[in-house]
Amino acid sequence: MKALVYVGTSKKSLEERPKPAITAPTDAIVRITKTTICGTDLHILKGDLPSCRPGRILGHEGVGIVDSVGPAVTVFKPGDHVLISCVSACGTCVYCRKQMYSHCTTGGWILGNTIDGTQAEFVRIPHADLSLYAIPEGADEEALVMLSDILPTSFECGVLNGKVQPGNTVAIVGSGPIGLAALLTAQFYSPAEIIVIDLDDNRLDVAKRFGATATVNSTDGRAAEAVLKMTGGRGVDTAIEAVGIPATFELCEKIVTAGGNIANIGVHGKKVDLHLESLWDRNISITTRLVDTATIPMLFKTVASHKIDPKKLITHRFKLDQIMDAYETFGNAANTKALKVIIEA
Ligand SMILES: NC(=O)c1ccc[n+]([C@@H]2O[C@H](COP(=O)([O-])OP(=O)(O)OC[C@H]3O[C@@H](n4cnc5c(N)ncnc54)[C@H](O)[C@@H]3O)[C@@H](O)[C@H]2O)c1
Ligand SMILES: [Zn+2]
Ligand SMILES: [Zn+2]
Repeated sequence: MKALVYVGTSKKSLEERPKPAITAPTDAIVRITKTTICGTDLHILKGDLPSCRPGRILGHEGVGIVDSVGPAVTVFKPGDHVLISCVSACGTCVYCRKQMYSHCTTGGWILGNTIDGTQAEFVRIPHADLSLYAIPEGADEEALVMLSDILPTSFECGVLNGKVQPGNTVAIVGSGPIGLAALLTAQFYSPAEIIVIDLDDNRLDVAKRFGATATVNSTDGRAAEAVLKMTGGRGVDTAIEAVGIPATFELCEKIVTAGGNIANIGVHGKKVDLHLESLWDRNISITTRLVDTATIPMLFKTVASHKIDPKKLITHRFKLDQIMDAYETFGNAANTKALKVIIEA
């Protein structure tokens, strides 16, 4: 089969690999129909995630058709149309019992990280019963690819942890696919204002179209002043960090109002200063989270009922043969205006 392989820092190749086989009774093999590329795949290629070793097939998002199942798989059978969660979950370990699937002792985020992933014709899914979701007939596959990772990530780590409430003021720092998905899912709760901050005017225009009430281009380094001005000097109830660098987390520290929440989503590779000298008396909460994908079933319903349309995030489409071009397009978003790319296997 064809597969996109991480060769080493800044190196990847489209290779011929053997089709994966079932290695545990709880495994399923899924034939991929559609997959995509995540900002985290770019982090891996930069060498930011040492857990992912050279030789690994990348990808942790996708939909497909069950090809075969191990003898202990009870929910799925060959031919079933399924959505793949980016997180694999056994369902019985101490973390899974708390629905903290991201920390499953024999799963978690392993796909396209410590085991081969979805940017291939076939993938082996461990703990298939809990790591796959049945796709009802007639559902839009492309929209559902957004449910493997980016929608649950934005919703769980940003919107739920940030306690977005009706009438509140929200700032989302970062208008990439994750920040934009947070913008879509924050609107479930009808906040009064959603201010989106980024360096890229194209992405800020997209944010406006997706429901941002205001946008701030932070290139001049004065975003905190702009947000404080917009909020009568008070700041925002919820500041969602969706970039993953020190400057953007520190911006959240500056714009959170008394009693507010900072919800971090970004993957951070560098230390960040916590300014307790200005925050100790502000009654704020700071949360961090690795996506659990525990909200996939609920998000599924919001997509099926057209409460949100995650397909709006898709800007480009490629075939698996063209995945090197897909990476090129996705990696140069400032020029290509790419958000999410769909890769058809
Ligand atoms: N916690 C989790 O479970 C989880 C899961 C998936 C992704 N992530 C992380 O979420 C983050 C966002 O993902 P993405 O795919 O949207 O990434 P992305 O790189 O596509 O988007 C980041 C955005 O931040 C903007 N940006 C960069 N520097 C900025 C600055 N100084 N000020 C304002 N904006 C700035 C960029 O222009 C870009 O639009 C990444 O760090 C990713 O690794 C976390
Ligand atoms: Zn991802
Ligand atoms: Zn578990």
